[in-house]
Amino acid sequence: MDSNKTSKLEKNDRLHNFLSPYGNPHANAVSGPLVISRGEGVYVYDEDGRKYIEGVSALWYATLGFSESRLVDAAFGQLKKLPCYHAFGNKISDVCLELTDRLTELTPEGLNHVFYGSSGSDANDTAMKLVRYYNNALGRPNKKKIIAREAAYHGTSLATASLTGVPRNHWGFDLPIEGIVRAKCPNYYRDGLPGESEEAYTSRILKDLEQQIESEGPETIAAFIAEPVMGVGGVIVPPKGYFSGVQKLLKKYDILFIADEVISGFGRLGFMFGVNAFEIQPDMMAIAKAFSAGYQPISALVISDEINEVVAKKSAELGTLGHGYTYSAHPVPAAVALETLNIYRDLDILKVVKKASHTFWETMAPLREFSVIGELRGMGLIAGIELVADRKTKEKFPVARAVGKIFETHCLNAGLIVRAIGDTIAVAPPFIISDDELRTMSNCLINAARLTELDLKK
Ligand SMILES: Cc1ncc(COP(=O)(O)O)c(C=O)c1O
Repeated sequence: MDSNKTSKLEKNDRLHNFLSPYGNPHANAVSGPLVISRGEGVYVYDEDGRKYIEGVSALWYATLGFSESRLVDAAFGQLKKLPCYHAFGNKISDVCLELTDRLTELTPEGLNHVFYGSSGSDANDTAMKLVRYYNNALGRPNKKKIIAREAAYHGTSLATASLTGVPRNHWGFDLPIEGIVRAKCPNYYRDGLPGESEEAYTSRILKDLEQQIESEGPETIAAFIAEPVMGVGGVIVPPKGYFSGVQKLLKKYDILFIADEVISGFGRLGFMFGVNAFEIQPDMMAIAKAFSAGYQPISALVISDEINEVVAKKSAELGTLGHGYTYSAHPVPAAVALETLNIYRDLDILKVVKKASHTFWETMAPLREFSVIGELRGMGLIAGIELVADRKTKEKFPVARAVGKIFETHCLNAGLIVRAIGDTIAVAPPFIISDDELRTMSNCLINAARLTELDLKK
């Protein structure tokens, strides 16, 4: 069937056998699916040839846009040389060895041991399993709970959806599983009390965290997991002093820090990793997405030398580390990730992001004038635009009004794809976006704010 000639209805029929991740089959019946058929630079094109700036880099990953031929060549070259191989039982492809060397040159000091996977979820799942393995090896069978925060996003597997602090990821699935301690989301804009300074807010939530650790029993808590800047939860930048305070507590109570760098890794925040931005010394770090600029599915969990030593000793005792995915360390995604790191090096990617960030924030600044916009926040090349019914009181819109969706649709109609997370609009363009394209993008956002305000007056 020629998809260009199909009607919306026919397309919905064709969608019937496809369970759309985060889909809503009833919503599809009304609007029909958006069928994307090609990409070029920062643009994607739908089947009717309409072009859209991908303002969220697809799922935060298309850092190099949609037509980087070096990545295509890397995949093709690897497919011709060694199209598939595995890493079970001490085997490894040469390309994966090289990737590991290159990756660990970038990761923080002391984080030198890499376990590969194909998704952010499986990297965090591996973290959860290694936390257990590590504490069992150390003879601490009760030290297993993991602290994860409200609004956190760490994946959708049974275990990682439980770390995720977004209720819709739990509905209908009997989640979360046991052993998750839910800490507060550090959202000063939403949860700061009237007149409370950012510093006072931070010490209040740190006090709460310490109380939580004490009431759960520190001897039962193994790890704390956090995204340096929360993405899916609404682009939330931590308040000043938050992570240094958290780290003090974790050290005091002997709790591991798992940094989820799935969105923030490789430059999104203007630093190689979020842990560099906030001076975090993690024990484990999950990476994915920008690792291969999204061109191939690959993730990794990077662990500290110290944890690796304990895990290796335990594996020797047990005869094996009983964990691994068929596609762990697959050579084709590895070749693409390696070339992605080469491109980041050749472009001096942090400089590129810093330059683009300047235009990004400068051209979006007029958004702050709109009464519908409560907060424009973020850092580097990630922003959240929170829409509110009342700027002074920060009153939210009723969920049923779906104001975020209205804004998102105005952007789409103008040729810009953004993502409404409730009433917060997420924007995270490819790193290679030009100043002109950034100006076009910001104009679309400003226009969408104007049209949304008009709609709300109707
Ligand atoms: C911070 C973070 N961690 C983990 C994940 C899960 O990654 P995946 O969807 O590849 O399983 C995501 C996905 O967006 C994410 O944003």
